[in-house]
Amino acid sequence: MLPEPDPHARAVSALLQDLITAEIAERGPMPFQRYMELALYAPGLGYYAAGSHKFGAQGDFVTAPELGNVFAEVVAQTLAGTLLQLAEPTLLELGAGSGALAVDLLQALARRGALPARYLILERSADLRERQRVHIAAATPQWLERIEWLEQPPEQAFDGAIIGNEVVDALACARFVVETDGPREICVDVVAGRFVAVAKEPREQLARSLANLQSDLQQPLPPGYVSEVNPELAAWFATISAPLRRGLVLLADYGYGRPEYYRAERTTGTLICHYRHHAHDDPFWHPGLNDLSASVDFTALAEAGVDSGFELLAYDNQSGFLIGAGIEGLYSHLGELDDRARLRLTQQIKRLMLPGEMGERFKVMLFGRGVEAEWLPADLAGPGQRRLL
Ligand SMILES: C[S@@+](CC[C@H](N)C(=O)[O-])C[C@H]1O[C@@H](n2cnc3c(N)ncnc32)[C@H](O)[C@@H]1O
Repeated sequence: MLPEPDPHARAVSALLQDLITAEIAERGPMPFQRYMELALYAPGLGYYAAGSHKFGAQGDFVTAPELGNVFAEVVAQTLAGTLLQLAEPTLLELGAGSGALAVDLLQALARRGALPARYLILERSADLRERQRVHIAAATPQWLERIEWLEQPPEQAFDGAIIGNEVVDALACARFVVETDGPREICVDVVAGRFVAVAKEPREQLARSLANLQSDLQQPLPPGYVSEVNPELAAWFATISAPLRRGLVLLADYGYGRPEYYRAERTTGTLICHYRHHAHDDPFWHPGLNDLSASVDFTALAEAGVDSGFELLAYDNQSGFLIGAGIEGLYSHLGELDDRARLRLTQQIKRLMLPGEMGERFKVMLFGRGVEAEWLPADLAGPGQRRLL
């Protein structure tokens, strides 16, 4: 049972439903990808574009940077060696959420003498851009002037790094169902005033992605199989990474390599909806009030990075990444802390690393362009889980 949204929230959702219904009435059944795009980002009404709380205990879900600063410390440890080698480095954060990672990362980099000359935040949501500004101004006012908010990737080339935590899962994806004579695209129609899923011939770009996917998998996907694919992932990666002349791209998210993502038993895909810390599988339940996301196909992400001219430096689950980047050395002083501080840090590290928490399902992928191996933590670029791609 999901908690019932309050009347104001229901009214906002009703407006979004009207908007989607009107578009369907005008153009016919809407690709699920378009539905997800509107449910998340319709101006003033979508989940990320309206004012709901979203992150942390008061919101709908918790991300690694929201737990505390351990994740940021390890990201700083990963980036610092590279930032220190580059003149006037810039850091570009994608989808900065509440601004928690920006604040903790700036502090962690400053402690390493690796504060970037500029910290750019590419954020789609106007509501979140404002929240980030308020949070950063309160927590680290001394660095506010280095920060610049963008709605499009920067046009000017820069050296430095691009980071994004749980951004790729928030990109709208297409859904498909396999029928006996081939795959169909899942679209959204309105029947008796309700949204329903219907199967249609896939759009051209999706048909191409599905043909590539099918030829890459060892076995054909069985009839009735439902899953997701993001046909625009490579174009997205190319766009956000184009200005990076030299440096690292670090993307953390939940997902799998392709063989695991599309294994035959995963017959209902990975789409998941979050509302007030309840996970559910009905994307039509009060659209605009839930987060909708799909796991990341990390093989597709690796291909996108390589196609954009990057070298894949590391891919591991979050636990392996944290160890490779040197978390043990960073927290070797735990025994010297008082009980409360030790407990707080230990709990955070457990959430990030335990297999039943974020340790296994979350992965970290690191790309580089013009980066020397010795600029990175020594144990980071080992074989890790790359074999699973
Ligand atoms: C799940 S939240 C993660 C927020 C934050 N990184 C964290 O870990 O707490 C996804 C974020 O990505 C942003 N976003 C989604 N698509 C984006 C895009 N194409 N470009 C930039 N930001 C995007 C959302 O507005 C939101 O801030």
